[in-house]
Amino acid sequence: MKNEVQETIESLRSTHGNFSDRRIPADTVQAIIESSTRAGTASAMQDYSIIVLDDPTVMRELTGYAGSHALVFCADGNRMRMAARACGLRVPGGADAATFLTWCADAFLAAQTACIAARSLGVDSFFTNGIFRKGSEKAFEALGLPDRDCFPLITLVLGYALDPSRRKTERYRGKGLVHHGTYRALSADETLAMIQDYDDPEKRLGMEVDFRAKGCGHYVEWLFGQWLAPSDRGKADPVRERLTESGFY
Ligand SMILES: Cc1cc2nc3c(=O)[nH]c(=O)nc-3n(C[C@H](O)[C@H](O)[C@H](O)COP(=O)(O)O)c2cc1C
Repeated sequence: MKNEVQETIESLRSTHGNFSDRRIPADTVQAIIESSTRAGTASAMQDYSIIVLDDPTVMRELTGYAGSHALVFCADGNRMRMAARACGLRVPGGADAATFLTWCADAFLAAQTACIAARSLGVDSFFTNGIFRKGSEKAFEALGLPDRDCFPLITLVLGYALDPSRRKTERYRGKGLVHHGTYRALSADETLAMIQDYDDPEKRLGMEVDFRAKGCGHYVEWLFGQWLAPSDRGKADPVRERLTESGFY
């Protein structure tokens, strides 16, 4: 028997951009944001910023998707540092890897909390890293993001699903996911079992795709051979370049 919070979490599913035209009321958006900011935060600093978008054209331009609203979660160390500098402290810009990852953790926790809060309020959503595909430079410009110590990580697109009953993806809970005490890699047999789990349409573990019709014997074969196959390996990595420019190394 699951409690109400567990039921809400279990009911999460992505609406991949197919939202109705219905707008989310402003107080509901505000409630989602308030819940979002209750997420855990390193040293109570909330080193992230949330850019709220309500113009579907802008959302589509920046991420490739649109809904009623979108929340762009950015790792952002500027606010606290500005406060420290205003107190006369010499706080240098830039962030080492541990600091950057900590800011990212803060931002991602807030993002997932927003997603759960939204569902509890009857609002559908999905995450997209479309900003990386569309070019983060475009987002920096359109959203007026600070040049340093800020990076748009993930967007939560919000709205009301046109088809709320559509297929729900399940989650893999088999071997190799949870490790007790120390990490233990999958054996060959366990790997095979996992491959078969993803191949089984009844288990609904992967994305909805007819991988056999695409000439693949297994789902993971399609996943790595086609979906994730790099088309431009060896070429420039604009996200990495932008990270460096923003002071993250
Ligand atoms: C980091 C991240 C990026 C994602 N990017 C996209 C995206 O660009 N387009 C999309 O349709 N779904 C995107 N998704 C949604 C996933 O495809 C979805 O969560 C996954 O297929 C599982 O389905 P479910 O959320 O309905 O359970 C993203 C999810 C995450 C966490």
